[in-house]
Amino acid sequence: MRRGGKAARIAVIPGDGIGKEVIPEAIKVLRAVVAPARRQMEFVEFDWGADKYLREGVSLPAGAVEMLRDEYDAILFGALGDPRVPSNQHAADILLGLRFKLDLYVNARPVELLHDRYTPLRQRTEGDIRFMVFRENTEGLYVGIGGFFKKGTPDEIAVQEDVNSRKGVERIIRYAFDYTRSNGLKRVCMSDKSNAMTFAHDLWQRVFKEVRQEYPEIDSRHLYIDTLSMEVVRDPRQFDVIVTCNLFGDIISDLGAQIAGGLGLAPSGNIHPGQVSLFEPVHGSAPNIAGKATANPFGAVLASEMMLGFLGWNTEAATLHSAVKAALREKFVTPDLGGEHGTISVGDWLTEWVGKNPSAAT
Ligand code: NAD
Ligand code: IPM
Ligand code: MN
Repeated sequence: MRRGGKAARIAVIPGDGIGKEVIPEAIKVLRAVVAPARRQMEFVEFDWGADKYLREGVSLPAGAVEMLRDEYDAILFGALGDPRVPSNQHAADILLGLRFKLDLYVNARPVELLHDRYTPLRQRTEGDIRFMVFRENTEGLYVGIGGFFKKGTPDEIAVQEDVNSRKGVERIIRYAFDYTRSNGLKRVCMSDKSNAMTFAHDLWQRVFKEVRQEYPEIDSRHLYIDTLSMEVVRDPRQFDVIVTCNLFGDIISDLGAQIAGGLGLAPSGNIHPGQVSLFEPVHGSAPNIAGKATANPFGAVLASEMMLGFLGWNTEAATLHSAVKAALREKFVTPDLGGEHGTISVGDWLTEWVGKNPSAAT
């Protein structure tokens, strides 16, 4: 991560599909929110994604990881995934590649209902749905260790290894407790499947029991992932912070997104404290709506808010949060939220709102 430069340098990777539609809106709003500040923000765009992969056979270019690490403060990312690349190889190389190679071990996925109207849960209101999911982001079933035996025959065997290191499990659990403590929250729920995954998640159990003792003021508990999925829907008020493994975190964060209004609204940060980190909406490239200019840009804007917070631009971050809340309140929304506005007009609306409600000068 660069230190001490005058301007924050942001690497922008719009990616595929609606990533290319929502990221320009996020940048437009970001430019507006940082304009009154004395500090500056500089954006450099990279065309990594399916088009480049199909054209040149290049997914994550050589030297990319070192360049991002040494020359940028943060990465703003859209989405990857294209029906023309059924193997999803470029996404694995670029997105998982960056998560792993930059060692972005915290995948922070906030779930927050920003307006009562948008939850499918009956009688739940804004304060009822507000928790953070911390997803382990560098190991688990995502490491890509495995293989086929007798592929394509009736006797075929496919193996996918679930890798859990003591260090990896401990640092994400500890991060969840530290976040809870430093944000004045009360409850941490660790979720695993230790009743069936008797080796990998036995490690999670043992580490959790050890680490929780260092945080006696925090109410910590464990739920199996199947029970957690049910409880999050039954009564989301129970949760402040959830910490879980890579795959379960992927799933529970989509579930969380849906109870807070849908995938179009959900942001995430792939973080290694003190190092260059990557911010993206939780959603994918949505090939079913790509090219129609109707994608919801809120997830990308809220991911930009997380990026600003990470960079220490807290006032500007809060302004983006308020801007999205205002758009929801005014029903200036895309079709996924029942509105009739397009991606660009929603981006324009937010930009204008930010212009009229500038952050206190920083
Ligand atoms: P998806 O998130 O792309 O879409 C799921 C559903 O949500 C679709 O109906 C889509 O139209 C809708 N949706 C998602 N984002 C939206 C938005 N901003 N506005 C309005 N509607 C939105 O998930 P999928 O269809 O399972 O995956 C499509 C591709 O994206 C796949 O290649 C997948 O691997 C990839 N993907 C990438 C990421 C990422 O880059 N982080 C995340 C998830 C999926
Ligand atoms: C996400 C996505 C990715 C994941 C896919 C595209 C590999 O679903 O960012 O949530 O599973 O992490
Ligand atoms: Mn996902």
